[in-house]
Amino acid sequence: MNSVVRTLTGFRDWVDARFPLMQLWNDHLARYYAPKNFNFWYYFGSLAMLVLVIQIVTGIWLTMNYKPGADLAFASVEYIMRDVEWGWWIRYMHSTGGSAFFVVVYLHMYRALLYGSYKQPRELLWVIGMFIYLTLMGEAFFGYLLPWGQMSYWGAQVIISLFGALPWIGDDLALLIRGDFVVSDVTLNRFFSFHVIALPLLLCGLVGAHLLALHEVGSNNPDGVEIKKHKDANGVPLDGIAFHPYYTVKDLVGAVVFLIIFCAVVFFSPEMGGYFLEHANFVPADPLKTPEHIAPVWYFTPYYAILRAIPNQLGGVIAMGSATFMFFLLPWLDRSPVKSIRYRGWRYRVALALFTLSFLILGVMGVQPVTPEFTWLSRFCAIVYFLYFFFLLSITTPDDSRGFVRYYKLCLRGLVWALTVGFTYSWIKGLPANELDKTPLMDKLDSPSTYFVIALLLLAALIETFKFYRQDVDAIPPERVRWS
Ligand code: HEM
Repeated sequence: MNSVVRTLTGFRDWVDARFPLMQLWNDHLARYYAPKNFNFWYYFGSLAMLVLVIQIVTGIWLTMNYKPGADLAFASVEYIMRDVEWGWWIRYMHSTGGSAFFVVVYLHMYRALLYGSYKQPRELLWVIGMFIYLTLMGEAFFGYLLPWGQMSYWGAQVIISLFGALPWIGDDLALLIRGDFVVSDVTLNRFFSFHVIALPLLLCGLVGAHLLALHEVGSNNPDGVEIKKHKDANGVPLDGIAFHPYYTVKDLVGAVVFLIIFCAVVFFSPEMGGYFLEHANFVPADPLKTPEHIAPVWYFTPYYAILRAIPNQLGGVIAMGSATFMFFLLPWLDRSPVKSIRYRGWRYRVALALFTLSFLILGVMGVQPVTPEFTWLSRFCAIVYFLYFFFLLSITTPDDSRGFVRYYKLCLRGLVWALTVGFTYSWIKGLPANELDKTPLMDKLDSPSTYFVIALLLLAALIETFKFYRQDVDAIPPERVRWS
């Protein structure tokens, strides 16, 4: 036994003399000091890495039997499912992994909203995270075309046509993405190469940069205090504990619980009622037959609902793009000196609660068929969604601020009232029946647009009571974490 240990140690020293092995181990694990008060929300970074590994490994095995090509793709997926040994398992791991990735990443991002993890000095860490999120969306979009089912084909058709709505460059851009005038074999081949090599490489590079940035500035924590400000004589943060073994063990527990849930889905409900694998995708792509109801996979639906809420296509595309882009600005929109929600004023709590609710409702709306009720509800939620970002700057900036922020606050208040008055005016105009309109007045009053206008009025009143132009009174966080 001793000789084995000696040989291994000798080998380690041999490598260490030629490669900074122990330095990497110490810098990123054994002597990387993390706050001692991590909670449930801190599981999702390591879980995202676990899912990334699952996706890459199962992806490699799928590629061994998958055949890109409009004539071959659908049949090759069926072949994997029925004839390749354990092929069904690998495919279901990969398809469930796609959804699990978004569950984990959404929770990971939400933690940052709760504890202000995007704030100084972690702005770049957040921005790199946002690039990961965009790359992940691209990866999911390209991968979805590969089974060449009805939903793959028509989903790609709809999304690519959105690029066509951009002025001047739109048509050429859509042509460039498709490589053809319609979604075809050419499109499938280029999506395959992006899905299998280009984006995974980019994703791995970005995750590496994300971790380097994290270890440069150190982790935030549920109390939002910087542990690096209080160090002992050896330079070790007083409220820190070594990542390894303390957090490797904690993350291992999270990974086991996650894998139990993940396996339950893979083995018992891989389609997840049509949310993870859509029913229409079990039918081969048919360019001559549009499916009755086209909806993207669940993780895109909040943005899809925003797109559909706007009556004009270009307007919808801009709104959808800005809905994602706003997240990039968060570190600069939120100017409160306090990070954690535990010590923030009630205005931020209410704003975050409304934002969360609107995001969830938009997600549900995105899979529903279009009806006037749902369209109005999506419009209202889209307004609440954007107001969160616009108001953040104003509720987190002191009352006596001068210059830009002062005018910004006034303009914002003006905008909310202009929106409310505008919608109320168009609603009142629509009320009186003309000679051609036989709808009774009571029916018109009891319509989605009435509820939308009432909701807007309530929102405007709520914002007034927010007195958002006043300073948000945040509590002072404790000097040091108290669990020492
Ligand atoms: C493949 C996807 C991703 C992986 C593998 C990943 C990995 C990690 C890991 C391991 C951590 C440290 C552990 C933890 O805090 O949970 C972390 C922290 C962080 N990540 Fe990510 N991440 C991913 C995506 C994202 C995205 C999309 C965002 C935001 C847009 C983001 C923002 C952050 C922030 C702000 C922190 C610091 C949190 C804190 O210290 O409170 N990450 N990430």
